[in-house]
Amino acid sequence: MENQQTNLWKAYLDKHKDRMLEELTDILKIPSVSADPAYANEVFSMAKDLENRLTKVGLEKVCAYDTAGFPMVYGQKIIDPNLPTILVYGHYDVQPADPLELWTSPPFEPVTRDEKIYARGACDDKGQMYLQVKAIEVLIQTETLPCNVKVLIEGEEEVGSANLEDFVRANTSLLSCDVILISDTAMLSKEQPSITTGLRGLSYVEVEVTGPNRDLHSGVYGGAVANPINVLSQMIASLHDEEGRITVDGFYDDVEDVSAQERDLMASAPFSLEDYKDHLEIQAVQGEKGFSTLERTSIRPTLDVNGIWGGYIGEGAKTVLPSKAYAKISMRLVPYQNSEKITELFTKHFQLLAPNSVKVKVTPHHGGEPAVTPVNSIAYQAASQAMEATFGVTPIPLRSGGSIPIVSMFEEVLGANTVLLGFGFDSDAIHSPNEHFGLWNFYKGIETVPYFYHYFTQLKKQA
Ligand code: BES
Ligand code: MN
Ligand code: MN
Repeated sequence: MENQQTNLWKAYLDKHKDRMLEELTDILKIPSVSADPAYANEVFSMAKDLENRLTKVGLEKVCAYDTAGFPMVYGQKIIDPNLPTILVYGHYDVQPADPLELWTSPPFEPVTRDEKIYARGACDDKGQMYLQVKAIEVLIQTETLPCNVKVLIEGEEEVGSANLEDFVRANTSLLSCDVILISDTAMLSKEQPSITTGLRGLSYVEVEVTGPNRDLHSGVYGGAVANPINVLSQMIASLHDEEGRITVDGFYDDVEDVSAQERDLMASAPFSLEDYKDHLEIQAVQGEKGFSTLERTSIRPTLDVNGIWGGYIGEGAKTVLPSKAYAKISMRLVPYQNSEKITELFTKHFQLLAPNSVKVKVTPHHGGEPAVTPVNSIAYQAASQAMEATFGVTPIPLRSGGSIPIVSMFEEVLGANTVLLGFGFDSDAIHSPNEHFGLWNFYKGIETVPYFYHYFTQLKKQA
């Protein structure tokens, strides 16, 4: 590719990098927590703020579209309808910051320590979404944008994107594109970049176990009446067998058998189990027998309790046999599993598990389907060449354990492949206290993304 153009990009980034980081810092100050109604105003003002920023980088038709929930922030630059169009997707909402006491510095007062910016959303997804916006700025301001670009940033990703599907289906021509580009995943390391080629799907349920019609004295009734917390614990314990497999009937029926070739490729990825354990301060890993840690978190489905509660949890002791117990359970799904079917199988299984002494209720939450990007697609090839250009190393394709449920919907409705060009690290503590994003990662993203535009346009023309 032409040196002249890449020199322009480099010079622009060098000149403006401090301001770009200041802008990210300002964005991170807005507590746009979508899950907590107490922050609703902040989420709306985040959308407004972003609308202004998209206009400033030179995008057109910028608009924060109202929905039944939080706005969809959109902008575009169409230079020639005959050229390919890249649709960038990201999210401006963040996870709740609690537990607050575990943060070294407050979650919405971003600070830079050891070349990393610390704040809720630093990596997921404000830092990554904004590197995409800044890459567009580089392309527009150096007058080197090689194709059309559309940007769609939503504010409800962390709560299941309830309004995105309707918005996309109602606006298919506004959003029509040749590829969907997303920075909302991680890569292996600075030395060995990787591109996410798969995301897991998600089934999420809440269960309620009811014993007696009211809380009882645990001395007067204990031993004779089912304790829903005891019962729920037993039911949950039985959801895995001794080999770490999920016992829900039919759970594995549709699970894809990943080829030996792909498993070999995963096994050759530079991954240190010792570092992994050290980082988490655990003595040992655990999981499904016959699979490696990387496999367990990417090509295999899982079932985890996310929260469990009931009975007395206040100060001191209260001798009570509770009437109810609850748990939230998530299942990560792999290609060919279907979230609705899995939710149904789980519900049936869980109801059958319950002894006669209790009643159970299973309430499904939002779900999502798994997604895979074929490595032989133009989209993947362009991303690979882009990373190779700025890292000096060919990235390796890796599947991720996380979920971005809208990816499969986008692909279905818009008929385009998705590229998951993430610049975070697994150690960035997304959804955890002290979430952070490396300044190196932020700038590397801004440096790399313009190459994707270039290579994608070029490969598309050749095709
Ligand atoms: N960006 C994450 C998904 C992710 C994280 C993918 C790391 C790959 C690596 C996204 O914001 C997220 O947290 N998704 C949720 C699902 C959603 C329905 C709440 C998830 O994966 O739990
Ligand atoms: Mn995210
Ligand atoms: Mn997230």
